[in-house]
Amino acid sequence: MIMVTGANGQLSSLVLQELAGRGVPALGGSRTPAAGQRRLDFDEPGGPDLTGVSTLVLVSAGYAEDDRVVARHRAALDAAVRDGVTHVVYTSLIGSGDHLGFALPHRATERAIRAGGLEWTILRNGLYAELFGSLLSWTPEGLESAFGSGALAAVARTDLAAAAAVVAGAPAEHAGRVYELLGDPITATDVAARLRVPHHTIGLGEYRSRLLQDDSLRGFEGPMLASIASAVRHGFLGDTGPDLRGLLGRPLTDPLTVAAESAAALRPVAF
Ligand SMILES: NC(=O)c1ccc[n+]([C@@H]2O[C@H](COP(=O)([O-])OP(=O)(O)OC[C@H]3O[C@@H](n4cnc5c(N)ncnc54)[C@H](OP(=O)(O)O)[C@@H]3O)[C@@H](O)[C@H]2O)c1
Repeated sequence: MIMVTGANGQLSSLVLQELAGRGVPALGGSRTPAAGQRRLDFDEPGGPDLTGVSTLVLVSAGYAEDDRVVARHRAALDAAVRDGVTHVVYTSLIGSGDHLGFALPHRATERAIRAGGLEWTILRNGLYAELFGSLLSWTPEGLESAFGSGALAAVARTDLAAAAAVVAGAPAEHAGRVYELLGDPITATDVAARLRVPHHTIGLGEYRSRLLQDDSLRGFEGPMLASIASAVRHGFLGDTGPDLRGLLGRPLTDPLTVAAESAAALRPVAF
């Protein structure tokens, strides 16, 4: 049986939809399981229950400090060995993302997977086009960001979900492979042009001080977001690659359209 962890999350729910659309049976696991899903929490003492699972789609459980994320993923991997899972498919972070403030738990998890003795496939996911659009700020004049003219090889979440479903449906064909899943490069100016507004660049110092003043962000989130801005601005995340197209066997969803929709959805009514 295939199990997809984090079934209530945006990526995992799309993976489950993709598998269902392909007629591949799969079970969702979540801290808040819907009917027909299994309760699954990596933080639970004793680790998650993975009995009966042959292929585990381990969707990263981010949004916490590194030690918590690494511990969560280790708990899932320990349970996978204990409960007889054959193959782990892990949703990681693109190799070019090593400069990002949240790269370490992904690399630590990759190490643990390689050392763990199970079959594995690592899906190094590019940054979501949805995320890029949401990180552009609206002003009365248009859009503003610290991305400068740097490009991001952004990916629609739905394409990453489809890639995970392809691999989970035939894991033996992808054993021992690391896929770099990247989309077409887009810039903040491209997104602004699509929405017919100008884009204004601010400095990283200004961006960081705004993040520090934002009470809605948890401690680790400001540095994380500042690292994305710096890496995009300085051209570290702009290169694309063939792996995603190769896995999907179809053209990619246009990341510019997705990013523009995501930015447009956040436009204040007053602007
Ligand atoms: N590539 C990118 O641009 C990008 C951007 C942001 C995040 N990410 C990473 O990709 C993951 C999926 O992205 P998303 O957009 O689907 O994020 P999301 O909608 O915020 O989902 C968060 C996910 O984390 C899971 N989770 C949190 N705590 C957990 C725990 N204790 N045990 C098991 N699962 C736990 C949630 O599962 P349940 O709620 O169902 O339990 C859910 O699947 C994120 O968690 C993060 O690691 C990637």
